This record gives sequence, C-alpha cells and structure tokens, in this order.
Amino acid sequence: MRAAALTVALSLAVAAWASEGASPDDTARVNAWVDSVKQAAGLVRQLVAAGKQDLAVAKLGTIINDAGSMREALQAAADGGARGARSEELASATEFDTGAAFSVNTTFKPKRCSGQLASPGHRVRIHYVGKFVHDSKVFASSFHTGSVPYRMVLGDPSELEAWNVGIEGMCPNERRSIVSPWNMAYGAKGNAKVGVPPKADVKFFIELVSVSERPAPGFSHLAKSRSEDL
Ligand SMILES: *[C@@H]1O[C@H](CO)[C@@H](O)[C@H](O)[C@H]1NC(C)=O
Repeated sequence: MRAAALTVALSLAVAAWASEGASPDDTARVNAWVDSVKQAAGLVRQLVAAGKQDLAVAKLGTIINDAGSMREALQAAADGGARGARSEELASATEFDTGAAFSVNTTFKPKRCSGQLASPGHRVRIHYVGKFVHDSKVFASSFHTGSVPYRMVLGDPSELEAWNVGIEGMCPNERRSIVSPWNMAYGAKGNAKVGVPPKADVKFFIELVSVSERPAPGFSHLAKSRSEDL
C-alpha cells in the first residue's frame, strides 16, 4: 500500500517535472525508473502477502537506494535548471543600464564650418570610438578596422539612433561626444558581434570626416521630409 502511494506520488512529481521542461533524456530515464519501482512495489506486495516479510524488507531497501540515486539525479537537474534561470537573469541584467540620458556635446568645432552639414539622407564618413558608460571600456572603434572611416547614410533606420540623432548638423572635422541610453544604441539584446551586452548604455566619440554633397540614392526621401518639416 505504502509502496503504491509512493509510486503515485512519484508519477505526479515526474509529470510536474516534465511539464517544467525537463530534457527528453531525463524524462525517459525517470519514466523507466518509475516503471521499475512499480514492478518492485508489486513484488513487495506479493512477498508480504506470502508472509515473506524479510524478503519484502530487503526489496524495499533496494527501492530506497534506487530512490536515493534518482533523488540525486533530480536534484542535479534542478540545480542545472536554476543555473539556466540565472544565466537568463543575467541576459536581462540591468547592470549595464546606468540610467544615462541622451546627450551630445561638441568637443571640437573647426573655424570654418560651411558647406554641406551632416543631414538626413546624406552619406557621411565618421571616425568613432565606442565606450561603455558603466566601465568606460572601449568596445569598438573605426581604428579597429584599419582606421577606415565608417560609412553610413544619416537617418538610415538600420543605423544606431544615437548616431542618426547625434551626428546631425556636424560639419566636417567637427568632433562630438554622445552619451546614449541603450534603447537608442544596441537595445535590450545588445549586439554579441560587437561585444555589447544587453541594455548597455554607451558613449561615442565621433569625428565627422566628410558629408556627401547630395543625398544618397534611395535616401532622398529622408532629406525631403526634413526640408518639408522646416
Ligand atoms: C556634455 O557636457 C555635460 C556638462 O559638462 C556633461 O554633463 C555631459 O555628460 C556631457 N555629455 C557628453 C555626451 O559628453
């Protein structure tokens, strides 16, 4: 009777465990074990019915030992699950979110600032250094790519919003620093390729190298909508 109650409780535990996303291997292993416990428990019942208490006790000892091993395996799986949850927690960590507000400062302005300024729809070439706000470490720069300036079309929605907003109005050779909250930079997921963790606030040091005279082909709508705004 007790053994039967034990197997029912175990089946429930296994079902709950499986529904929480145990690996198929673990589920198969524990299912096989429950079957063997059921068999053993049936044998205990027969032995008791036949008056062979000593053999029944020995068989129960085997079940208890096996249950101990299974308990360890389950515990290890649970601990592993907890570690998995912990790394998910880390992935959504806010430790790189410093609460920084977006800001832009001009750190160098050339004496002659005329001609085409950086405007939406125009091609720009920039040198940049990107640092994390939380530890001031450099994570990327155009100097890492052989000092070849980075090319982009200002206002292109596939570029960082911090750049689209922060570079606008610069004249060639002007330098700016930009502090950007994560949601205007690499976002909630960060960018593993660039080595940016989730929700990382960043700081950019930008030097505008050049601006195209005309809007880039396919991007004149950005320039137009701009002049309509004005
Ligand atoms: C701009 O200057 C202000 C005042 O010195 C400072 O608080 C802010 O962090 C600076 N922003 C950037 C992007 O450097």
